[in-house]
Amino acid sequence: MSLSNLIDGRVIAEQIHAETSHRIDHFKKLGVQPGLAFVRVGEDPASQVYVGMKEKTSQRLGLHSVTHVLPETVSQAAVLDLIQRLNRDSSIHGILVQAPIPRHIDSTLVYSAVLPEKDVDGFHPINVGKVLLGDSSAFLPCTPAGVQELLLRSGISLAGAEIVVLGRGNIVGKPMASILMQKSPQANATVTLCHSYTRHIAEHCRRADIIIAAMGVPRFLTADMVHSGSVVIDVGVNRIADSTTTSGTRLVGDVDFIHVQPKVLKITPNPGGVGPMTIAMLMRNTVAAAEKFSK
Ligand code: GUN
Repeated sequence: MSLSNLIDGRVIAEQIHAETSHRIDHFKKLGVQPGLAFVRVGEDPASQVYVGMKEKTSQRLGLHSVTHVLPETVSQAAVLDLIQRLNRDSSIHGILVQAPIPRHIDSTLVYSAVLPEKDVDGFHPINVGKVLLGDSSAFLPCTPAGVQELLLRSGISLAGAEIVVLGRGNIVGKPMASILMQKSPQANATVTLCHSYTRHIAEHCRRADIIIAAMGVPRFLTADMVHSGSVVIDVGVNRIADSTTTSGTRLVGDVDFIHVQPKVLKITPNPGGVGPMTIAMLMRNTVAAAEKFSK
């Protein structure tokens, strides 16, 4: 298999940005600029990078964006107070509180405080529940929605497909399974969700048409777990030690890309696969939020 089996997330994200940007221009002609607020608590280096990338894309597409950075030691009450202010701010249509949040703050409380209509991250329990129920008025969480879009726009059929999701986190694994199992032309898959207690994970993977790796274990999915017809989506972002780099570390995915890529039908590069799609879905959700507010 040659490098042409790559699913290019950057190219597909740009297609979605073009569609979103068109919707933003339409809005601006009506005198409204969709607005997105970022809340970052503490100085987690990865969160700084992620929020920075999301801000930059917001500006490029013409969204109004504001970023609130709160100190690591901020009180829970102060975070909740900021969210209430953003909930009331009519120039803000979407609110994103970047995870992880420091441990002294109850993240469930924080995500539940965001107005469900402004919850463009899809983390509010109401939106989580709506996604499970197949209610299309929900905001889909950005990373799993991006994976679904990546598969659909790459012409990969999901109906009846055997899909193995590796990982049961609230941000990717659980909502990913929930989205793909829906009775919908965009889903209809048979989903197996594997986690740290699953026996015979390799056998589940070998049976799958599509494997979505999102458990946060560096290069977990190896070549012996895939076959020539496998489609592999790598959601993992893991920092590992690497003495050959100046920083002494390096980012790797959940897939042993070097050995898996030559063997499979299709695979996402990492970086350049799922990451850009997460941002594209956030931008799209924000415009959808603004559209709902203007109705
Ligand atoms: N941290 C990692 N992924 C995400 C995401 O999709 N949204 C937020 N808010 N935080 C994250």
